[in-house]
Amino acid sequence: MDYLKIHPTAALEGKINISGAKNASLPLIAMTILAKEAVKITNLPNVVDIKTLLKLLANLGANCDFFDDGVLVNTSSINETKATYDIVKTMRASILVLGPILARFGHCEVSLPGGCAIGQRPIDLHLKALEQMGAKIDIKAGYIEASTPNGLKGCEIIFDKITVTGTANIVMAAALAKGVTSITNAAREPEVVQLCEILNNSGVTIKGIGTAILEIHGTAGELINIKEFAVIPDRIEAGTYLCAGAITKSELTLTNVEPKHLGAVLSKLEEMGSSFTIAKDTITIHPSDEIKAVKIITQEYPAFPTDMQAQFLALATQANGVSIIEEKLFENRFMHVSELQRMGADITLNGHTATVNGKTQLSGTDVMATDLRASSALVLAGLIANGETNVHRIYHLDRGYDSLESKLKNVGAKIQRLKE
Ligand code: EPZ
Repeated sequence: MDYLKIHPTAALEGKINISGAKNASLPLIAMTILAKEAVKITNLPNVVDIKTLLKLLANLGANCDFFDDGVLVNTSSINETKATYDIVKTMRASILVLGPILARFGHCEVSLPGGCAIGQRPIDLHLKALEQMGAKIDIKAGYIEASTPNGLKGCEIIFDKITVTGTANIVMAAALAKGVTSITNAAREPEVVQLCEILNNSGVTIKGIGTAILEIHGTAGELINIKEFAVIPDRIEAGTYLCAGAITKSELTLTNVEPKHLGAVLSKLEEMGSSFTIAKDTITIHPSDEIKAVKIITQEYPAFPTDMQAQFLALATQANGVSIIEEKLFENRFMHVSELQRMGADITLNGHTATVNGKTQLSGTDVMATDLRASSALVLAGLIANGETNVHRIYHLDRGYDSLESKLKNVGAKIQRLKE
């Protein structure tokens, strides 16, 4: 297994190019199941989760031809509709194939994804919505067995909770359904917006894109033609590197970024003392010498993203005063706290709220990554901790960050990837 060895750096300097969004790429790859012909996707990030989903599609019989920053996916050769446990267990977002496979083939077996480090991750809302659309769903021996004896029919769906992949799954199922499906309380994340925009440009009329109420006019089983597209920039990767600039007090410029997707993150960093120069697809952070304490509550987009909570918690250890960080979406997304405490951070956990007393000088030590975003928080801490920090189990990091150590090394970080 690999680990990252990090030593504190003076200021970082230079440009970091932002890759395509992992959480946009995953539904967009699943969406190719709805296509009549091959689909060309560019600006795909080079991360494990994308490779895993493409492997799943290949296991079903699809053809995936890779090129420098993308893939040509042809799902016309799919001859299997069972997504097996061995793949699904490594990436719960595999559930995103459920809606499209069911819509196209009328039957599907997908292994229950199970929970993950940050929480239970139920999919009850996905299944309930598909049943409302006419699917028959049984859970047998750890698998979701779904069939649509009479095809999927459009209907009115109201999600009890806002679910990102749940919204994506139902939008894709509704794309081939008979009639109109409305989704109330839909997720408005940019990743869901891009999925809707591409479907809307491919003959599936979707109204209300970007709002909490979507109306999808299905093609009644007619496969669609999807033109080549580029994945939107990864707003969470971008936010992570902005935190790297803030925590090391470095002026960094991010390129190929979408500032519009980072409103809540930029606003919180401004509250903590940073300022920004923002152009069409670049952001330069001008960090403050003193970092101010902050109050953060994670919510659905466009509010502050839960996927940035761990990174801001690491930053808050360097803020003067008491920061309060409340995690409202997941039941167990504070596992980075114990590792930061081992580095000397003064953090108190009380249920879903972390209280961070800063500023503390962190000390480097061996720490263990526990989930994707916790890993990046530990890297941020390592950039400013005294001494050497070794971040172990970085397979978590490799699931969602494209070339993190080389991107940081290119702006002056003392970071290297080694073998245990
Ligand atoms: C997506 O997960 C992201 N993953 C997550 O990013 C992100 O943290 C999350 O949305 C919230 O923004 C992908 O897009 C691949 P949800 P998802 O369904 O769709 C509850 C990362 O770090 N819920 O929006 O699985 C659920 O328990 C990852 O890149 C139900 O109760 O999240 C949670 O409390 C981590 N029943 C809340 O909704 C359901 O059927 C939000 O979950 C579905 C969800």
